Amino acid sequence: MAMDTGLITLVNKLQDAFTNVGIQNPIDLPQITVLGSQSSGKSSVLENIVGRDFLPRGTGIVTRRPLVLQLINRPAAGAKGGVQNGDTPTPGAEGNQTNPHEWGEFLHLPGEKFHDFQKIREEIVRDTELKTGKNAGISPQPINLRIYSPNVLTLTLVDLPGLTKVPVGDQPRDIERQIRDMVLKFISKPNAVILAVTAANTDLANSDGLKMAREVDPDGNRTVGVLTKVDLMDQGTDVVDILAGRVIPLRLGYVPVVNRGQRDIDQKKAVSAALEAEKSFFENHPSYKSKATYCGTPFLARKLNTILMHHIRNTLPDIKSKIGSQLAKYQQELQSLGGPLGEANSGNIVLTIITEFCNEFRTVIDGNSNDLSVNE
Ligand code: GDP
Ligand code: NA
Ligand code: MG
Repeated sequence: MAMDTGLITLVNKLQDAFTNVGIQNPIDLPQITVLGSQSSGKSSVLENIVGRDFLPRGTGIVTRRPLVLQLINRPAAGAKGGVQNGDTPTPGAEGNQTNPHEWGEFLHLPGEKFHDFQKIREEIVRDTELKTGKNAGISPQPINLRIYSPNVLTLTLVDLPGLTKVPVGDQPRDIERQIRDMVLKFISKPNAVILAVTAANTDLANSDGLKMAREVDPDGNRTVGVLTKVDLMDQGTDVVDILAGRVIPLRLGYVPVVNRGQRDIDQKKAVSAALEAEKSFFENHPSYKSKATYCGTPFLARKLNTILMHHIRNTLPDIKSKIGSQLAKYQQELQSLGGPLGEANSGNIVLTIITEFCNEFRTVIDGNSNDLSVNE
């Protein structure tokens, strides 16, 4: 599950077309950031989206430095295009399973490849403690981790410490402001898609994440509401009114999810098993079974894909004109060197290919546009 393979293939094609004309990263995809109170389930949501088990999670303040997670699509050696036959890859079917084509690298440990995702988690914990101490200290200094895989979209996700009010352990008196400043830096970027995470067993009206998201994105153009812990709600209560936009409406809507609970984590329940359990929870719950397709992590991943596709579509005209002017410049240089030789038209051919690609891309997204509407 996780990221949509159709989108991965399209973006790879686009990257290839541009690499051929010497442009490295034509589309700057949005950074996906999580925002919400401590222990609301932010790290769990990110992990489910990536489809691998590697982030420290738990009760209390576990994420104590920003983690900037760059996913980098890299086709498996010998396999062109990465994803084959349009199969949906299932990364992380088992938590500790290693895959020769999938590994992580930390900026602070250059050249060291981590194929075991459990070891990645241990290194995040180790380096967090090194910079902040063991006793709940925090630091704005990010941990930079790259994950190379044929099954991901080249994209950046940011895991952040949760909003908190009361200092514990070694935390400074002004912890609330320090975390706010740290988080604001990431979510203020116009290019950031904000996953505003609220536990469904707490009051939405008191959601610090939603309040802060509204400060930086008042029109709700880049905020998606995520309701976690739907499985922990009191019997007879549900999030149906929130989903219908009758509580605090959000333009891009809310997605309810069920992540692994603390016991699942202690028992090392695999991502795949957790996703199965989530699916069956929504399909069998009287409040959600009629709208189960709009619930759960796969729907959240699809919503993110659609947001990314719209972003790419909006960026395409700009990219095209950049390339057009670059080609014109090259052609002029060629002329001044004594006129074009055999390659005179190669620039135009490339431009034609890119234009065709852009048209093809629009057709694909227009077919998906409805996904963005608020789920009812
Ligand atoms: P963060 O502090 O916001 O990053 O939250 P974590 O992802 O570390 O999760 C905090 C705790 O809540 C962990 O013990 C998770 O197992 C638990 N948790 C998160 N999401 C859910 C959920 O949807 N259902 C249940 N039952 N527990 C969850
Ligand atoms: Na936590
Ligand atoms: Mg966390």
